[in-house]
Amino acid sequence: MKIALIGSGGREHAIYWKLKQSPYAQVHVFPGNAGIPADDRRKDVFSGSDFDSLKSYLESNKYDLLVVGPEQPLVDGIADALESVIPVFGPSKAAARIEGSKKWAKDFMEKYGIPTARSFSCSNVEEAYEALEQMPSPYVVKADGLAAGKGVTVTENIKEARHAVQDCLERKIFGDSGASLVIEQFLKGREASVFALCDGKRAIPFQPARDHKRAQDQDQGPNTGGMGAVTPVEYIDAKLLNKIQTEVLDRAMQGFADEGCPYKGLLYAGLMIDGDQINVVEFNCRFGDPETQALLPMLDEDLPELMMQCARGDLQPDFLRFRELASIIVVIAAEGYPGSYEKGIDMNPLLAARPESPDTLLFHAGTEMEGETIRSTGGRIAGVVASGSSIEDARKQAYSYLNDRKIERTFFRTDIGSLK
Ligand code: AMP
Ligand code: GLY
Repeated sequence: MKIALIGSGGREHAIYWKLKQSPYAQVHVFPGNAGIPADDRRKDVFSGSDFDSLKSYLESNKYDLLVVGPEQPLVDGIADALESVIPVFGPSKAAARIEGSKKWAKDFMEKYGIPTARSFSCSNVEEAYEALEQMPSPYVVKADGLAAGKGVTVTENIKEARHAVQDCLERKIFGDSGASLVIEQFLKGREASVFALCDGKRAIPFQPARDHKRAQDQDQGPNTGGMGAVTPVEYIDAKLLNKIQTEVLDRAMQGFADEGCPYKGLLYAGLMIDGDQINVVEFNCRFGDPETQALLPMLDEDLPELMMQCARGDLQPDFLRFRELASIIVVIAAEGYPGSYEKGIDMNPLLAARPESPDTLLFHAGTEMEGETIRSTGGRIAGVVASGSSIEDARKQAYSYLNDRKIERTFFRTDIGSLK
């Protein structure tokens, strides 16, 4: 099976790695990063918006399946543009609105009875201030559209909340993505990410993962794309998972079908768990980063076949099998991330050699080769993934690998896998 995979992050390196576990899969990444062997990279074919040239390339080079990593091309309609020539793992433009517009997602959840926080959608400052008055602190202000993980402010300070409203609606720091916003009730609890493979009719979940989005230890500092993740999640048992299936995934699949946009690909439910209460914080239309890097090494299934089944609308299994191990990823980022940061850091001391233990994996994120040197190109540079018989075991391995190979001007959180 000849597979084209779109993307360049840690998530795509992990998807590439897992797809390549199948002896019959040939995988090319458009454009990929320095973790992908040069022969399997296609750097100059797809610029991010030119679907026509990608379409003719995939058609003339006889690819069998297109897998889309990031959300932007999905929200822009890549699946609709290419599905006439190739099966696509990823939702249509209409279904991708679940991530592309917070307002659309909130209306959808309300319509189909999916548990979520109460909210108001606002397109002018007065409306937003009024909505803030009606919510107790802490305040949650969200730009409506895609904002690379930076569009959400959670604060106990009303002045800061108002400032976030002005940033979005007046100063337009998110451009068109912030033309309107959502003010949402604060949800307390612990977060979990549940991914599901979807074929338009059914959603079959992965085991849950826990993502740590804040930049610093003890979940302090600004929100990032994600600084680490663990799986499984000890506060989600079989009963809760069943509730997530029936009240979140099944209702969403029915909703997409009723809206005329059946969902194919990966549906990501970002959840807040408080005892046996579940609420959806957000849906995403793609695999999460970095949860994917921790989850895929645990998946005891043939991923190319499952993705093809999703794309063709005919998912076969009733559940997914996972190895009975714990897995953790710790992300290494450039100092300053998620604010401004330096690029071009020499990452060879961490990334040049392969780990000797089969239980430790390195996934690149923002990296590029310069001669023989692996240099950083992004804020999140790479991740160390370790598995073990317990989270503690996996955690020890990941940190001992990282602590032996520290690199100046980079940082990582030291508490992934140890928070309750
Ligand atoms: P989102 O992009 O909607 O997932 O929001 C990013 C992060 O902000 C989430 O992962 C949560 O950590 C936090 N967050 C978003 N909405 C809420 C909420 N209603 N209550 C508490 N925390 C939230
Ligand atoms: N880890 C959060 C995300 O992928 O959106």
